[in-house]
Amino acid sequence: MLRYLTAGESHGETITGILDGFPAGVPVPLACIAAQLERRRLAPGRGPRQARETDSFQITSGMSGGLTTGAPIAVAIANSPSGKQAFSSVPRPGHADLAGMLKYGTLNAAVIRERASARETAVRVALGSFALRLHGLLGIRFSSRVVSLGADAAPTVKSAMAALAAARAAGDTLGGVFELRVDGLPAGLGGCSQGTARLGSRLAAAMFAINSIKGFEVGGGFRLAACGGIDAAREPQLSGGLDGGITNGSPLLLRCAVKPVPGLAAGADSVNLKTFKKARVVSKTSDTTAVFAAAVIAEHAAALELAGALLEKFGGDSLAEIKPRVLEWRKRTGKVLARL
Ligand SMILES: Cc1cc2nc3c(=O)[nH]c(=O)nc-3n(C[C@H](O)[C@H](O)[C@H](O)COP(=O)(O)O)c2cc1C
Repeated sequence: MLRYLTAGESHGETITGILDGFPAGVPVPLACIAAQLERRRLAPGRGPRQARETDSFQITSGMSGGLTTGAPIAVAIANSPSGKQAFSSVPRPGHADLAGMLKYGTLNAAVIRERASARETAVRVALGSFALRLHGLLGIRFSSRVVSLGADAAPTVKSAMAALAAARAAGDTLGGVFELRVDGLPAGLGGCSQGTARLGSRLAAAMFAINSIKGFEVGGGFRLAACGGIDAAREPQLSGGLDGGITNGSPLLLRCAVKPVPGLAAGADSVNLKTFKKARVVSKTSDTTAVFAAAVIAEHAAALELAGALLEKFGGDSLAEIKPRVLEWRKRTGKVLARL
């Protein structure tokens, strides 16, 4: 079973992750992990913190001579030294602050922020880099693109940069929608024997585990609701690569809606939970949008989930064991799919 856990706080020394159940013999150059972390860190719309972070990391277990060993992989990413956040009894709207303060019985929102912060997603990217490498060596390719930014339903680089600059100047932030595509997945991953085996439910959980993601669809998604059955049947790609929770050999297509970043330079109204007096929260260092970075994080989160499904289907403790099984299966199922 492939599983992972993360630990660490936004302003702690490091954020850490452990990936357990990953096969041996997978070459994972450190430069690949660094490049993926950089895609997340330097995605468009990020704020000033990202210039401070270097995302320098250490692999302390699970690799030898550039190859995975089959032992749990441990990754630690250094945070830039910035000191602990100051005590604050003013929850920031749109964040975990208020709900977390109620849940853990604290008047200090800073304690909640430390772990609820999206800083943690850097570790998921580092761990997901291993899964992406495994997929890549098996001919499975991941890509993502932002399909809407704020009200712009067809953003170009130029229009996106202009929208981000305008939002920043107004102290505002933007949400958006990204699309994730996976090509080359073998048919037959996931399952229909239980609701929890359905790959759509597993991928939805992986996407909703990313901060700010508020909507998820597979293939035609919400558009399918407005389609007649006859029209839907004419366009099998609307299934988005999943039927009955199982991959069907077509590209997997997911879309996620990302809410606008809640931390506003323009400020937002709140209440001081110590005095119950009105308070204003101003965030000068927030990202202007999370949608581009979230797309990168989603590629890695999906790669981890799909690597788990792949290992369940094909088994094996090393790449040398898994690869011929996948190739043989592709040949066998490919013969059927080619005749449809
Ligand atoms: C990559 C990424 C970066 C983010 N950066 C910020 C930020 O700079 N400021 C902020 O207020 N929220 C930011 N967020 C959003 C918050 O983390 C998120 O809204 C908050 O944790 C509450 O979680 P929820 O939106 O899932 O309910 C970011 C989210 C992601 C995915």
